Amino acid sequence: MGTRLLELQVNGRTQAVAAADSALLVEVLRETLQLTGTKQGCDGGECGACTVLVDGEPRLSCITLAASVQGRAIETIESLGTQGRLSALQRAFHEKLGAQCGFCTPGMVMAAEALLRRNARPSEAQIREALAGNLCRCTGYVKIVEAVQAAAEARA
Ligand code: FES
Ligand code: FES
Repeated sequence: MGTRLLELQVNGRTQAVAAADSALLVEVLRETLQLTGTKQGCDGGECGACTVLVDGEPRLSCITLAASVQGRAIETIESLGTQGRLSALQRAFHEKLGAQCGFCTPGMVMAAEALLRRNARPSEAQIREALAGNLCRCTGYVKIVEAVQAAAEARA
């Protein structure tokens, strides 16, 4: 196992990073690039907290090798909204109390963002299906579903 120079496209910018062949995307995002919005909530592949988008599709960054996503468009929670201004989806999570402790929220928001891009007016069942891999210990999910529905209306 060696170290190599990777070129990653993160949030619209090309980032050159030295990383071990075995480096996970979540590690590179959080530790090398200081994009700590992406969370790690389990030992691997079970909670969804680490969800980012790769070419617009949700991807668990804790079981994704950084080297495997070179040249792909990686989006993290930091790409949503603008400086000091939440996106409609982030605002809906805030206003509908879809975020409580907030640990699951970045992954939840990125999974919901991918859903709303491909389906502007999802049903409750479609929202629940899209977020099925994202676990939340706090909210009971009702507020999260309401937040995604509110965001869909705001974006329409
Ligand atoms: S941290 Fe990736 S699925 Fe839990
Ligand atoms: S808001 Fe606490 S885990 Fe979801």
